[in-house]
Amino acid sequence: MAYLNDNYLKLKAGYLFPEIGRRVKAFCDANPEAAKRLIRCGIGDVTEALPGAVITAMHTAVDEMANRATFRGYGPEQGYDFLRAAIAKNDFRDKGIEVADDEIFVSDGSKCDCGNILDIFGHQNKLAISDPVYPVYVDTNVMAGHTGPADESGAYEGVVYLPCTPANGFVPEPPSVKTDIIYLCSPNNPTGATATRAQLQAWVDYALKNKSIILFDAAYEAYISDAATPHSIYEIPGARECAIEFRSFSKHGGFTGIRCAFTIVPKTLMASTSDGTMTALHPLWNRRMSTKFNGVSYPVQRGAEALYSPEGKQQVRALIEHYMGNAKVLVAGAKAAGLTVFGGSNAPYIWTQTPAGYTSWQVFDKILNEANVVITPGSGFGSKGEGYFRISAFNSRANAEEVAKRLQALKW
Ligand code: MLT
Repeated sequence: MAYLNDNYLKLKAGYLFPEIGRRVKAFCDANPEAAKRLIRCGIGDVTEALPGAVITAMHTAVDEMANRATFRGYGPEQGYDFLRAAIAKNDFRDKGIEVADDEIFVSDGSKCDCGNILDIFGHQNKLAISDPVYPVYVDTNVMAGHTGPADESGAYEGVVYLPCTPANGFVPEPPSVKTDIIYLCSPNNPTGATATRAQLQAWVDYALKNKSIILFDAAYEAYISDAATPHSIYEIPGARECAIEFRSFSKHGGFTGIRCAFTIVPKTLMASTSDGTMTALHPLWNRRMSTKFNGVSYPVQRGAEALYSPEGKQQVRALIEHYMGNAKVLVAGAKAAGLTVFGGSNAPYIWTQTPAGYTSWQVFDKILNEANVVITPGSGFGSKGEGYFRISAFNSRANAEEVAKRLQALKW
């Protein structure tokens, strides 16, 4: 008899975005006319064409693959040296942040890395997770058996939830209890809130004191516009001893369909074996990637490298300005509709309070049915997300303007 992983049965409903997709499909099948005017501001998926520099680099790489003399088969599991060097130099060392080329591990996405990283951690760790937050952190821990069952609010037994509310500016403080693995996301998905240097320093100090590890998701760092806000946890003294950082080319390079991201595991980062011996994590992640991954394709890595060329950097800037221009339009539209909004200034997400008397899924249904716009219900990001919904700014300008108008036409 084969046994399944019982932990999967603890998961609440479907994963958020496929569940939204299922509801939207049912709506479109039942309302073909309304489906024609549907605008999707749900999942944070980019809409604009890839930067020209990426297209040129990928075409050239494909041509290399077409010639026996320049053809490449399996690449290094950790990523090609040319991309690791470009990342370490441009994103870190040029900004005065210490990161070595071989501390960068190139992958096919931050979602995968956030889940896969659990392979190198023990099952005895106490977890601390922001609420609301990107649902992958919680769900992958449930799948790995690191939690008990969920209660009625959807909170899993054994997880220390860190509430993110207007009172703390949606940035949690370290808890009074000791935890071992801490998930932080800045700019935060879904609230758009960013942690200040002092707030991150408090987390690093907490982690060093408790020998904990921070899993820092910086997938949206390119959207930070405040000069004082850190883009990387490694800007904080001590972070090389207590943090892993996840980065992605999806949101600023337009790579959601191309797939390329990277994770930084400093060689100075240690965790304890079950008998108490402090041991480096870098060789474990290297071993994990070598065993379970065959690397990102060569043309994709050449495309990612091109994002760091002078023209690539300019094209990325234009994409960010485009999406953040949409965010401005959406924030103004939601405010004019009488809604209370947060975020939208350092991240492409607008975190919006649900009108009184509505749950976030009721708001989802009303906006879908009456405005033919897809948003994301806040409860999908955690129990503290109830009472909010998220509007994604990834769209054309015309669609953002239309959504702003339709929000104002709704009667609550
Ligand atoms: C989101 O909408 O929260 C993200 O796009 C999902 C993801 O990046 O996997």
